[in-house]
Amino acid sequence: MIYDYIIVGAGIAGLYAALNIPENKKVAVLSKEPLWECNTFYAQGGVATARDEKDINDHIEDTLKAGCGLCNKEAVEIMSQNSILVINDLINRGFEFDTDEEGNLLFTREAAHSRNRILHAGGDATGRLLHKFLIENCSHKVFESVEVADLLVEEGVCYGVTVKKEGKLKNIYGKNVFIASGGVGSLYEYHTNANTISADLQGICLEKGIELADMEFLQFHPTVFILSHRARKLLLTEALRGEGATVVDEKGRRFLFDYDSKGELASRDIVSRAIYDYKLKGHKVYLSFENFEEEFFRYRFPTIYKNFKELGFNVPRQKVPVSPAFHFAMGGIKTDLYGKVPGFENLYAIGEVACTGVHGANRLASNSLLEGLVFSRRAVEVALINNFEPKSKKFPVLREKLIKENDKDIKNELRRVMWEKVGIIRKREKLQSAFDFICESEKKDIGRFLKLRLLCAKEIVKSALARKESIGAHYIED
Ligand code: SIN
Repeated sequence: MIYDYIIVGAGIAGLYAALNIPENKKVAVLSKEPLWECNTFYAQGGVATARDEKDINDHIEDTLKAGCGLCNKEAVEIMSQNSILVINDLINRGFEFDTDEEGNLLFTREAAHSRNRILHAGGDATGRLLHKFLIENCSHKVFESVEVADLLVEEGVCYGVTVKKEGKLKNIYGKNVFIASGGVGSLYEYHTNANTISADLQGICLEKGIELADMEFLQFHPTVFILSHRARKLLLTEALRGEGATVVDEKGRRFLFDYDSKGELASRDIVSRAIYDYKLKGHKVYLSFENFEEEFFRYRFPTIYKNFKELGFNVPRQKVPVSPAFHFAMGGIKTDLYGKVPGFENLYAIGEVACTGVHGANRLASNSLLEGLVFSRRAVEVALINNFEPKSKKFPVLREKLIKENDKDIKNELRRVMWEKVGIIRKREKLQSAFDFICESEKKDIGRFLKLRLLCAKEIVKSALARKESIGAHYIED
């Protein structure tokens, strides 16, 4: 059987694409693990949107400014101009963003936005509720525990994917392939991403000669609780700072003003770097909620309240130790303004895995869910009128071993190397040593998935080495 659409990934971009594909099309949405294990599920803060037509220019300006002049302006304009449309589409389909008692939408503030324009749901459960809503409204078949191990491409045409399901490899063919598999979180020791986010598809693209762009621009979220044993570290949403939480040291001093006059509301790269630097100087850093009333805090941030109570923190009365951690990849598979991968028929990339150019050197907070919505919808629009019919073609099934015995240790070492040498503050010498480590690891007897991870990590380091000056999230100190 040949699917009309194969969608790799079941986060916001993949599911919203599926929602926009008519029911009579044959669609397979592939989820690597159980459905909820994706970054969308864990997103707290919300979805940025222009509040009204008059706010579009300001949203564009804020996005361009955060991106340090490296955004694709046209892509940013498209994202902001379409923001009200996609938000209304979700509302019309029945999604409930938080509102006041009169039913007016509630907008919160996050860093580097010139006004409150972040919509949220369930307080700090925006991603989880959106994900649930998209799944409940998806009329297409979603397959769980299906890992993509290869793309079937030849001479600029994508014919489908190779998957591992129940321990077996097989090819699935489709007329349109949408990659919506998320970013690169598992490359880092400390990150906020779902376990499934391991850069496999970025690695496959590199192997196939599909271009990745802006890979040096990796965003580190400033306020993450990293002291838990889980690989995914707990985020403390930026909306907390937007609504009054402060970053303090062991003496309760708000030291961020030493680094930037906007303090807690400076852009994410600045706040992360400041916290990282201050900790290196031997200080302890906390997020303090003393400006919040307990009842309001519990109602407005129920997930954080519950998670941290369970961890033994008496929030909001007690402050929580925080550190920056890897959060989001601005770079990814290079696409045009419709999510199409240039030079390849029938191949699209949407959401975090893509590089549409909307984020430039540093993503403005909460623009990621918005990007996923706007560009997945546009990709479906062009795919639906795409008349290119790939020739019927069969590929031999991949024979490479996906996982080998050595992999785990090398994977863990890679995470450490990426965190220490390709992190928030970079030095050329350390980047070079990370590069050498990756090249040495590639020579070992390793499985395919690790090989793909290493390919992606190498591309990040190469891009970081190639960018000589600090800009946005790429900060180089020599
Ligand atoms: C957050 O809630 O702070 C994360 C939102 C985002 O990554 O934009």
